[in-house]
Order: sequence, then structure tokens, then C-alpha cells
Amino acid sequence: MEFVEWTSLGYLLSAALFIFGLKQLGHPRTAPRGNQLGALGMLVAVLTTVLDMHLEGGAQWTLVIAGLVIGSLIGYWMAAKVEMTGMPELVALFNGFGGAASALVALSEVWKYLEGAEVPTGLKLTVTMVAAGLSAVVGWMTLTGSLLAMYKLKGGISVFGKWIKTPTWGPSWLNGVKILLLIAAAVLIYLSIGDPTNRQYVYALITISGLLGIILVLPIGGADMPVVVSLLNSLSGIAAAFTGFIINNSVLIVAGSLVGASGLILTFIMCKAMNRTLLDVLFKSFGGGGEKESLTRTKVGSDSDEVAMMMDGAQKVIIIPGYGMAVSQCQHQVKEFADLMKEKFGTEVSYAIHPVAGRMPGHMNVLLAEANVPYEQLIEMDEINSEFPDCDVALVIGANDTTNPAARSGEGPLAGMPIIDADMARTVVIVKRSLSVGYAGVDNDLFYMDKTMMLFGDGKKMITQLNNSIKEI
Ligand code: TAP
Repeated sequence: MEFVEWTSLGYLLSAALFIFGLKQLGHPRTAPRGNQLGALGMLVAVLTTVLDMHLEGGAQWTLVIAGLVIGSLIGYWMAAKVEMTGMPELVALFNGFGGAASALVALSEVWKYLEGAEVPTGLKLTVTMVAAGLSAVVGWMTLTGSLLAMYKLKGGISVFGKWIKTPTWGPSWLNGVKILLLIAAAVLIYLSIGDPTNRQYVYALITISGLLGIILVLPIGGADMPVVVSLLNSLSGIAAAFTGFIINNSVLIVAGSLVGASGLILTFIMCKAMNRTLLDVLFKSFGGGGEKESLTRTKVGSDSDEVAMMMDGAQKVIIIPGYGMAVSQCQHQVKEFADLMKEKFGTEVSYAIHPVAGRMPGHMNVLLAEANVPYEQLIEMDEINSEFPDCDVALVIGANDTTNPAARSGEGPLAGMPIIDADMARTVVIVKRSLSVGYAGVDNDLFYMDKTMMLFGDGKKMITQLNNSIKEI
């Protein structure tokens, strides 16, 4: 069999592994296997590509193997070191690297022409320059946009030990600049077809694309960050697919299209969850300002014994987990609480899952699956909201924005975002360390309602205390 057929077979195998892996990512139980299949697919793709390069001499092999080893070690180190709460920043960074890698490969193809390689003619030249141009625009934009998104998720950047807050800034004229930059990029791509060896066009396109990424993400803040992170994820795939066309690599086109399409689907799911359109997020600068509201009200806290006594009579409890559960890693104690309630009082316990609770899609599902909470007990917001009027206790654990009734007012960074209707339950218990605001920086009326009991403290500590108090009843 010809070698080229083996190459096609290798690419076909890796594409199949990607598709099956993606399918398995659809359920928490099968997701780890899906991840492994995806990684295996990538290994097959890399090995096939390396073999197809017909490397000659030790120096070339050394370079490729050194790249593989160093890249794998850095990737492993970053993934092993990252805290669960730091995952969204890592995902944003990896999106940026994906975009940059595609843009660099596209650049290397065009660079050959600048160095005197034979320039194709006719349709081939047009296709190459358009694909390289689009890959550059999307790739560099994804890099700068993702880096900014990463620092926005972190909240700021430390420069020589001084913490500088990442700004959220988006006057309406910035939309005009975005459109002008896009037009300029299109003109540059058009001009580069006529003059493919012009360095100035290449430098100008890289600069414009980098600026576009920054201007795209700068106005987005607050609760809209999940949408922009999944959009950047999709863009990194689209850049890879364009690059696949330039270097004629089918697996890059397949993998890039899969990332692009699944990222876009996730983006639309996120938009729906936030009650926004994609155009709203990109051009209307929701969540702008980014300033945290100052708190003026106070509330007396309860203790675990008092809450446990009240739980004694509860027939139906709905747990609403949020980012604070991820910070305190109290999912095991939460599961123990649910088991105790069922055993001791025969209470029906379920979990209300907001689509953007935490800091990444599926954050709560992953944590609760890790604590072996049956998947059937995790009920999505749209489905469970109608149950709150019949619910005795809504137990909010480290959730804030996703339960904030201010979202219903139609104003402020949370305007229009659907929330979990915890305030409709007969009693609300909230576990968090203070009255401080959530990610979007908006004070929460839920804390101050007469029917609300605050259990102030770290999630793990407070749920453990609550469980001990319940055991003593
Ligand atoms: P948030 O509104 O972020 O509130 C989390 C709360 O957890 C905070 O108010 C904090 O209050 C509390 N907390 C922190 N550490 C804690 C600890 N150790 N123990 C107990 N509580 C602790 O959370 P949410 O309701 O899950 O909403 C998520 C927000 O993040 C939304 O605005 C969403 O748009 C945004 N976002 C989501 C994503 C995705 S994809 N899910 C990505 C980026 C941004 P204290 O400081 O008083 O304890």
C-alpha cells in the first residue's frame, strides 16, 4: 500500500476518534472516556503528520521530538497544577494558543513567498491568500481576545507585585471601530492576492487582527464572559480549519470544524441561558462598567443548629450550588447532607443547576458527579423553577448572581438573565462567607428577605457543621 494511503487512514482514524470522543463528552459519566479518545485521536494525527513529513537526518527528528516532549510536559504541568476554580482561565489560554498556532502555520506558508519561494498563480493563489488571511484574522484575534478574557476571568493582572484590575470599557463608538477594522482586514486580504510578497500587508493584517481581539473582548464583562469564552473557543477551531485548507491537511480541517461547530453550539446555548443574542453580546456591551456595587445593608447570620431544626420539618429541599461550592470544594459534604435529609427526615432532595453557575459550562455537574450525586437529581433551571413554590427550603451554597432577583429588573449587568427562582421557596438558606457580591458585582436582595437565613462561613465548614447538627437531632 502506498504511504499516502496510510496517511489518509491515519487521518481517518483520528477524525473518527475525535467524533466518538465528542459524542461521549455529552454525558458526565462517559466524558472522561471521551476526553481520552480525543487525546488518542490527537496523538494519531500528530504521529501520522510527522511520518508524512519524511524527515531526514537526526537534526529534524530531534527538533520534532523535542517539540513533542516539551509541549507535552508544559501541558501536563499546567493541567496538573491548575485549581478547579482556575479551569476557565486555563481554557481561555488554551483557546488563545490554538488560535496563535493556526495563525503561525498560515504565516509560515505566506512567509515562504516573502523569502523567494515560487508563488502559485490563478485560483490556487486566491484560495491560499484568502485562507491564510482568514486564518490570520481569526487566529491573532483569538490570541489577543483570549489573553484579555483570561485576565478578565482572573479579575486583573499583577505587574511588579501591583494588582491592576482588568478594565471593562465599551463606548458605543467602539462598534464603529470594530466594523472599520474588519473592512480594513478584508481590503488587506484582497490586496495581498495581487501582491503576495508585500511584507507590509502581512504586518498590517497581524496588527489589525490583534487589535480586533482586544476591542471585541474589552466591552464584555460581568455575566457575559461565559459567552465570549465559548465564542473564542469556536474561533480557535475555525482558524485551524482555515489553516487546514492552506496546508492541505484533512485532519486539521475536520478537527477545526468540529471545534468550531461545537464551540458555536455552546455559544448559542450560553446566549440562550443569558437571554441574549450573540449580536447583543458582541455589540451592546452588557455587564459593562464592571464596578462592584457597594453594600450598605446588614443581615444577622443564623447558626447550624437553628438551620438543622428548621430542616427537620422540610419535605422538599432544593439545593442550588454555585461558584462558592467550587471554591470550598464542599460537594462531598453537600452529598452527605442530601443523604442525611433523606435518611433522617425522608426529605425529597434535588439540585437546581443554572447553565452558567460557577465559572465554566457544566462546572456544577462535574463537581457533583465527582461526589457521586445521581445524575437524575441534577435538574436544569428551566425544568425546576416551577417547583420552587412547593419547596420548603431552597439551600443556596455559594451561588449569588444565578439567584439574584435583580436580573428580573431589566437593568444592570444581570439584566434579563434568567435566574433560579430560589426566592419563591418557603424558606431560603444561604451559605457564603459574607454579604459580598458575586461575579457580576450586583448586591442581592435575596439575602435580606425575611424568609432568608444566612449561614456565614466557608462552604465546607458550614455544611459540615450543618450535617453534624442534623445528626444530633
Ligand atoms: P457568583 O455570582 O460568582 O457568586 C459566588 C459566591 O460564592 C460569591 O458571592 C461568594 O460570596 C461565594 N463564595 C466564594 N467562596 C466561597 C467559599 N469558600 N464558601 C462559600 N461561599 C463562597 O456565583 P454563581 O451564582 O455560580 O454565578 C456565576 C457567575 O459567574 C455568573 O455571573 C456567570 O455569568 C459568571 N461566569 C460564569 C461562567 C460559566 S461558563 N459558568 C464563566 C465566567 C463567568 P462570599 O465571598 O461572601 O463567600
